[in-house]
Amino acid sequence: MNNLVLIGFMGSGKGTIGRILARKTGRFFLDADALIESFANRSIAEIFSSDGEKTFRDEERSLAAWLAQSVNNAVIAAGGGMPTVCDNLRAIGEVIYLKCDFDVILTRLKCDSEREKRPLAASIETLSDRFNARQILYERAADRVIDATQSVEAIVKEIV
Ligand code: S3P
Repeated sequence: MNNLVLIGFMGSGKGTIGRILARKTGRFFLDADALIESFANRSIAEIFSSDGEKTFRDEERSLAAWLAQSVNNAVIAAGGGMPTVCDNLRAIGEVIYLKCDFDVILTRLKCDSEREKRPLAASIETLSDRFNARQILYERAADRVIDATQSVEAIVKEIV
């Protein structure tokens, strides 16, 4: 298994970094949310609104099992909540935590287009609780922790 799995909170840059990292290292880029949307043939927002968060988490669990079984040589941007439901992301590949300050996350998520595709970002008030509760899970799941408040170029360089 030659995959790199990027984890971190919403807005930590998993997609942006993942795409560049994939090109630089000769891997394919896969986005967990996009895979779930294509499997379910619905958007993440639709899954949350019609079936709720639990159904979405079940989809994430199935996706993690499929990735571990079937994917090689990819950079995978995990959904921000995947480490809360998948306790063995290392079975997919090397897990890299893009660690970011909450202030930076908030600034990024304040942009409407970023919030629209993320149902859990709709209520900014409850977001910091979720952010705090997840730190320990991200740390535990990770093989490497990268300071994701650096520039994109610096982050990619450090990972490579
Ligand atoms: C979620 C993060 C989102 C997406 C869903 C739930 C979370 O992915 O999976 O909206 O629980 O943190 P990104 O981290 O790519 O935004």
